[in-house]
Parts: sequence; C-alpha cells; structure tokens
Amino acid sequence: MLGRTWKLCLLLLLGLGLRSQEALPPPCESQIYCHGELLHQVQMAKFYEDDKQFVDMPLSTAPDQVLQSFRELLAQAPNQSIPRPQLQLFVQEHFQAKGQELQPWSPGDWKDSPQFLQKISDAKLRTWAGQLHQLWKKLGRKMKPEVLSHPERFSLIYSEHPFIVPGGRFLEFYYCYGHIPNGGRVYYLQRSQPPLLTLMMDRYLAYTNDTTFLQENIETLALELDFWTKNRTVSVSLEGNSYSLNHYYVPYGGPRPESYSKDEELANTLPEGDREALWAELKAGAESGWDFSSRWFIGSPNPNLLSSIRTSKLVPVDLNAFLCQAEELMSNFYSRLGNASQATKYRTLRAQRLAALKAVLWDEESGIWFDYDLENKKKNREFYPSNLTPLWAGCFSDPGVVDKALKYLEDSQILTYQHGIPTSLKKTGQQWDFPNAWAPLQDLVIRGLAKSPSPRAQEVALQLAQNWIRTNFDVYSQKSAMYEKYDISNGGQPGGGGEYEVQEGFGWTNGVVLMLLDCYGDRLTSGTQLAFPEPYCLAAALLPSFLLSLLPR
Ligand SMILES: *[C@@H]1O[C@H](CO)[C@@H](O)[C@H](O)[C@H]1NC(C)=O
Ligand SMILES: *[C@@H]1O[C@H](CO)[C@@H](O)[C@H](O)[C@H]1NC(C)=O
Ligand SMILES: *[C@@H]1O[C@H](CO)[C@@H](O)[C@H](O)[C@H]1NC(C)=O
Ligand SMILES: *[C@@H]1O[C@H](CO)[C@@H](O)[C@H](O)[C@H]1NC(C)=O
Repeated sequence: MLGRTWKLCLLLLLGLGLRSQEALPPPCESQIYCHGELLHQVQMAKFYEDDKQFVDMPLSTAPDQVLQSFRELLAQAPNQSIPRPQLQLFVQEHFQAKGQELQPWSPGDWKDSPQFLQKISDAKLRTWAGQLHQLWKKLGRKMKPEVLSHPERFSLIYSEHPFIVPGGRFLEFYYCYGHIPNGGRVYYLQRSQPPLLTLMMDRYLAYTNDTTFLQENIETLALELDFWTKNRTVSVSLEGNSYSLNHYYVPYGGPRPESYSKDEELANTLPEGDREALWAELKAGAESGWDFSSRWFIGSPNPNLLSSIRTSKLVPVDLNAFLCQAEELMSNFYSRLGNASQATKYRTLRAQRLAALKAVLWDEESGIWFDYDLENKKKNREFYPSNLTPLWAGCFSDPGVVDKALKYLEDSQILTYQHGIPTSLKKTGQQWDFPNAWAPLQDLVIRGLAKSPSPRAQEVALQLAQNWIRTNFDVYSQKSAMYEKYDISNGGQPGGGGEYEVQEGFGWTNGVVLMLLDCYGDRLTSGTQLAFPEPYCLAAALLPSFLLSLLPR
C-alpha cells in the first residue's frame, strides 16, 4: 500500500508546487470564498455553526452571476445590509451543499489484512487495529470532473489524484507547502503548513527506491526550501553573532475566510489600527499547525488571550528542526543524484542551522530546546512537546542531549501524565493547550526517544506509547470513534476547546495508533500493563505516520 499511496500523495503536492511556479494572480483572489462584501455579510449572519461550511459550498452558477445577483440585492437593501431571510434565500439559490464535488475512493493497493496486524499480540488491540485500517477506505476521496471543467465554481483546488481527508469538517487534503496552500481550498492559498514534503519524499524512497521520481521532482522540493529561506527567515543577534532561523509568518491581513465571524469579532475588541496585524498573526498561527495555543500569546494585554497572539515573533523549535532534517535529506538526495555542488550547499545550510539551534534555542540549564521570543529577546521556557523535536529530527550533534531531555521530561513532571503528553501546561481554553493531547505531538516525543540507543529513553518511549494507545482504545470502546485530539485530564476523553467542536475521523490519530501498533504490537496491551518488560522498537524503519493523513488547519 505504501509505495503507491505515497506516490499519489506526493504527486498531488508536487503538482501544486509546479502550479505555483506559473505566474499566478495574487493568492486568494476569489470575491466569494476569500474576501469581499458577500463573504462578509453571509459569514456575519452566521447561518452555520461553523464558518468553514459556507466557504466549502460549491456555486450553482458562474461566480459573475452570483456576484451580480448579490449586488442587485445589496442595491435594494435599505442600509447596505441585506435582511437575513433574503440573504438566506440568496445562499440557497446560488450555493450547493458542501461535499458535492467529491466522491468516495478506496486506495487501489489497500489490503484486507495487512501483515502488521498479525504482530499485535493483544486480541482486543488487534481487532481495533483492523477496524482502524478499514477507515482509510472511508476517508479516501477523489474529485468529480466538474471541478476540472468549472474550477471557478468551487473553493476546492482541482487535483487529478485521489487523496485521504482527515475527516469531520476537514473535507479536503492538507499540507501543501510554501507558497501553495495549507490545504486544498483557494481560501488557504496564503498559508503554508510545517514543511514536511522532503521528509515525505524520503519515506517514499525508503519503500520504493524510485530514484527517477526523485530526479523528476527534486527541484520542486528545493523550491519549498527556497520559499522558507526567502519568505520566512529571521535573523537573531546574540552575543555579537548573527544567526538565520525560520519562523511562521503570513504577511496578509483580513479575517480567515473559514473562521470569518470569529476573527472579525476578535478584531473588534482591539483598536482599529491593530486589526490587520492581529489577522496576520492568526494566519501565521494557522500556518504553524498550532491554532491556537498560549505558545504564541506573548503580546499584551494578557498572555491567556488570543488577541495577544504574536506567532511571527517566535522562533519555533519544531519548524527549525523540520528544516534541519530537510536540509540533511536534500544533501543526501543530491549526492544520490550525483550533484555534488548542491549536496554541499545543503550540507552547509544544515551545519549553519545546527549551530544556530545550539546558540539560540538550546538551553543548557534546563537541558532542552525552547522557542526564542524575538520581541522580549529571551527564551519561552514553558513546556511544549515541540521542545523535543530535534530528537525526532536527529538534529543535534552532542549525543548527551538525549539524557538531558529525559531529565527535562522528569523535572517538568510530564511523565506523571498517564493518558498522553499534554500540549502545554496552561489551561487557556485553546485547543493546543492543556488538557488536550494530539497524536502528532505524541509521535514527536515517542519516536524522538525511541531512536536513541539509551535503554532508559527507549523504555520511556514504550511507556508513553502504552499510555497513548490506552487512551485512544478506551475512548474508542466507549464512543466507537477516533478523534482529532483527546482531553487527558479525566482519564481520557475526546478533546475540547478552541474554535470548533472536536472532530471524528481522524487521519493523523489513526495513523499514529497504527504506527505504534506496528512498532510495539507485541508489547502493547488494551489494559494498563505492558505485555513484556523489555522495550524494543525498530525506530529507524518507521514511517513518519503523522504525515500519512495530512494534518488539517
Ligand atoms: C440596518 O442594518 C442593521 C444590520 O446591520 C439592521 O439591524 C437594521 O435593522 C437595518 N435598518 C434598516 C432600516 O433596515
Ligand atoms: C515571497 O517573497 C517575495 C519577495 O521577497 C514575494 O515576491 C513573493 O510573493 C513571496 N511569496 C509569497 C507566497 O508570499
Ligand atoms: C533500496 O536500495 C538499497 C541499496 O541501494 C537497498 O539496501 C534497499 O534494500 C533497497 N530498498 C528497497 C525497498 O528496495
Ligand atoms: C545540480 O543542481 C542544480 C540545481 O538544480 C543544477 O542547476 C545543476 O545543473 C546540477 N548539476 C549537475 C552536475 O547535475
């Protein structure tokens, strides 16, 4: 299954990369799905519980006609505000239900009983894994031909290749890269997501050795990294030295179309002159994947408030660790293709980044990396699982950091949480904060530790895997569903907080569970105890499972 499905996934993303090289109009130009009076009036009328619903609805006719009808209504409206019943009729007449443009799809190489199921000792976990494996078929989609023949009637961006959706409200593929969107809708065109395409290519190659495919597409991979260099670099001066690192940054204002009324209302709590900056920081938060978290709330008036968001003023550990790994892989890829000068270029970039990570983000006193706060010129010393990302990414030169990171986890009492690693220790009501726990963050910590030769690190990794499996299994046993996030405070429940209801599905949660069962299937149990005391994991052979399902934002 891996080879073919990964190739489809990569083709999809690479295709968008090529598209973005052409001379395109400015991102997000649609006057229906991206900005303008129609979007404003419909979203502020709040016909739907979730603003995303409206911007996912296809048009019934050409956009010009829809806009013309809207202008006529507006001209008749007494004070430039169309009365609610008329506006609702207008929407019914000119828009179709969401999801119309997609049809079900089963991956062609999907197998009924893949081998890894046999490795799972615990019978209950084995049955559960079989059910989760079935879900890939439920989450598979392909686009109807209308999206190709009439792209202007859809917010969905056409792709000839089928894909896996995360589930719930997220009915499109996620993660594109750089100057192409965070997800496959036009209203995402201004934002990236964490840059993981090069890592995906590496996994694809590990399973296929398809060097031709690499050769054909390596320049698109390079374009992504160029985008981060050109458009997302910050310089940090410390003790007379200057270091280049990257940050999340979206230089476009306006409310996010898919959360329009919330962004508009939040902006109304600030002076008018501060609103565009707030919207840009919200979009940068969405680009980070952590939308939203107190991790980004370093501004005034109050570090617990979303309006204090300053995403672009932080130099994030995880982003820089991902790029560090990408630079290493690019260097290896170019060597493999016999291009020594490019191989050297990326090796040098990686060496510079290693030095910058050590000088700016590493904290010897705490024995861990921290995000750097550019505004206050100091590290943000709060706990986040992302602080450990360099272990996962293999982005450090001193092997002693693993023991220090373990001690950091113990000192910050993170190992006392028995249902999963919390996203932060602050309870703000945001979804990327306490008490929520997210699958990709478990993966970062578990595999970061499991990779290490230290037996103690491997033992902790296995225990963390057991904790997470048990939470996911217990909730599944009660609700027959997998969730995008879990609340670890009450013995494990579906998560809450943030901008929308917790979503079922769910791509990355299923991916991480299946990866852990594949890796530790002979040790994990559906109860509270591990089956065997001695931990062991073929960490190097694992795929970056959280990429499998392409994260929503
Ligand atoms: C003007 O618009 C507002 C909504 O913005 C509405 O509440 C009010 O009733 C409208 N006034 C008239 C005279 O239609
Ligand atoms: C990246 O920055 C360049 C200017 O440095 C700009 O022309 C380009 O539009 C930016 N790309 C995106 C996607 O914002
Ligand atoms: C890919 O090639 C390498 C050596 O070139 C080999 O060790 C590895 O087993 C191959 N992998 C696959 C999946 O064929
Ligand atoms: C190496 O890659 C660069 C960038 O794609 C290209 O311009 C150059 O011609 C390549 N050199 C060789 C020897 O293939």
